[in-house]
Amino acid sequence: MDAPNASSSYDTIANIIRDSHATRVVVLTGAGISTSAGIPDFRTPSTGLYAKLAHLKHLPYPEAIFSYHYFKHSPELFYAIADVRHPRNLKPTISHAFLALLAKKNLLHMVVTQNIDGLESAAGVPPEKVFACHGSWDTQRCITCKEPFPDDRMKEAITQGIVPRCLATDACDGIVKPDIVLFGEPLREGFEEKAEHKVVEADLVFVMGTSLKVHPFANLPRLACAGVPRVLINREKVGDLGNRKEDLCLLGNCDGEVRKLADALGWKKELETLWGAKTEHVEGNETDGEDYTVRLDAAIDKLAGMLDESLSISKGHKSMLERHLTEKLARLPKPPERDEK
Ligand code: APR
Repeated sequence: MDAPNASSSYDTIANIIRDSHATRVVVLTGAGISTSAGIPDFRTPSTGLYAKLAHLKHLPYPEAIFSYHYFKHSPELFYAIADVRHPRNLKPTISHAFLALLAKKNLLHMVVTQNIDGLESAAGVPPEKVFACHGSWDTQRCITCKEPFPDDRMKEAITQGIVPRCLATDACDGIVKPDIVLFGEPLREGFEEKAEHKVVEADLVFVMGTSLKVHPFANLPRLACAGVPRVLINREKVGDLGNRKEDLCLLGNCDGEVRKLADALGWKKELETLWGAKTEHVEGNETDGEDYTVRLDAAIDKLAGMLDESLSISKGHKSMLERHLTEKLARLPKPPERDEK
């Protein structure tokens, strides 16, 4: 499809919102909407988290760090980088503020996000208008007995990079995990009702900052009814966006594209004011660019050391067992040799 020239795209979308009275806007978001807040996304080559984890020779594959089965036997690796992934003191971006403005104008039907950073609510989107399908850091519990774990103790464990253990009973001592959905776990309840049905009901769909690589989220844009405009705001084309005649692709950074769209809508001042009000209270963004990358690289170096150490322990363990078994076998009485006569 030949994309109309850029300025007309913004005007087209502005007209859909203003003149066609879109009032059931659904926004589908991924890590790309939070990168300017300081959290790297996952799959951008060289800067994405998986690119940084790919060089760790003992990690089976980068996504393993977020696999439930890997977490169960090596939770210390997850907690080695939890502190830099945790959304503490993060400022919501102006893109998050745009979602809050849609809600303020009673146009937002639902934000369905893959992100666990909670920045939509921090920007002012009402909780009932956000469905975080991969969970969030807000709560945590023991993976064995499911007992909730205290927030303050969790913050301590994350800051110190140690594995929190269940406090319910001495007998349990299970590993505590934030209520985020790791690979291999079922999605949060409500995906059909709060994600799929909402997209089917939408009269305008935005897809923002996602590679659409992870299912079932990746299938959501296809559920938009025929004739419903779908607007992609992303650095590159993803999924089947652009294949329908009503699709519009704004290829660029979320924040820049959102500002141009707000301008076309005549919402620029209102958006900046709303964003300012929601971020002035957030003291220095601990995870600003440089500082954040330094902290992430340091956490990954620590992770590399832990992997090397755990591997050498298991290698040492293996050779000790082999030596022990050899010595034990050597001490066994020799079985009578079969007489060859
Ligand atoms: N503006 C616009 N697009 C951006 C920006 C930005 N500032 N930053 C990154 N992007 C784009 C990238 O080009 C990429 O297409 O956002 C997309 C991010 O893709 P991923 O890193 O794969 O993140 P996401 O789609 O959210 O991943 C989905 O994978 O590992 C799991 O659980 C994890 O929820 C995550 C899921």
